[in-house]
Amino acid sequence: MRIAVIGPGRIGGNAARLLARAGHDVTLAFSRDEERLRALAADIGGTATDPAAAVADAEVVILSVPWRLVDEALSQTGPLDGKVVIDTTNQYGAGGLEALPDGQTAAQVNQRRMPGARLVKSFNTLTSAFQASEAHRADPDQRVVLFLAGDDAEAKEIVAGLIRDAGFEPADVGGLADASVMEAPRRHGAVYGEEYRPADARAVVEAVRAGRPIPLTPTY
Ligand SMILES: NC(=O)c1ccc[n+]([C@@H]2O[C@H](COP(=O)([O-])OP(=O)(O)OC[C@H]3O[C@@H](n4cnc5c(N)ncnc54)[C@H](OP(=O)(O)O)[C@@H]3O)[C@@H](O)[C@H]2O)c1
Repeated sequence: MRIAVIGPGRIGGNAARLLARAGHDVTLAFSRDEERLRALAADIGGTATDPAAAVADAEVVILSVPWRLVDEALSQTGPLDGKVVIDTTNQYGAGGLEALPDGQTAAQVNQRRMPGARLVKSFNTLTSAFQASEAHRADPDQRVVLFLAGDDAEAKEIVAGLIRDAGFEPADVGGLADASVMEAPRRHGAVYGEEYRPADARAVVEAVRAGRPIPLTPTY
């Protein structure tokens, strides 16, 4: 697929590398340092360009910028109507965790910032170092799970496929309103910051869908 990575830093850059390795056509954009952007693109076998050009041809956009820069990045990409957008962001600002509007998940806040996008939240629960080192585990039972949430079923199917291509196992917790279980901060009753393998992730998904508290965090 044609994938634009807006903010190819630790998380976005790693996803870009894994997806390029899987054969996807990856374009990188949104950097303070064009030379570094071009060097990274050359290193992973992708291309570097500006945000508007990157998203113009993309089927999927990975938005992976600091929370405070989401609006700035979107102003540079232009509207993302109809694009599948993978939102990797967590709502951390300079002073730590930022408050969300009452009753909204961070994913819903971002969906409102890009109303026409087919937003799927994912790649946000585990550190970039962990994602880099633990992709493509050989044993399917031990594969690392990346949770996802979104309101567009077809977009979630596409993202689930990309999660597999990147070397992880997808686990769909539901709609954007259900995303809080996979959002910051790390806490009891949430999967944010925790390794999950497929069997334990399935139990989480069942609990979320049934409106029950999720099982205790597994230890491996
Ligand atoms: N790091 C993690 O382990 C982790 C884990 C899960 C989720 N997340 C979330 O994923 C998102 C990206 O995090 P990250 O850690 O990958 O961030 P990062 O390494 O700091 O990358 C930020 C990206 O935005 C670009 N950028 C453009 N203008 C910028 C500016 N003015 N200031 C800062 N960056 C600018 C950076 O490019 P240049 O540096 O080339 O300018 C870089 O590509 C965040 O919302 C974060 O909460 C992070």
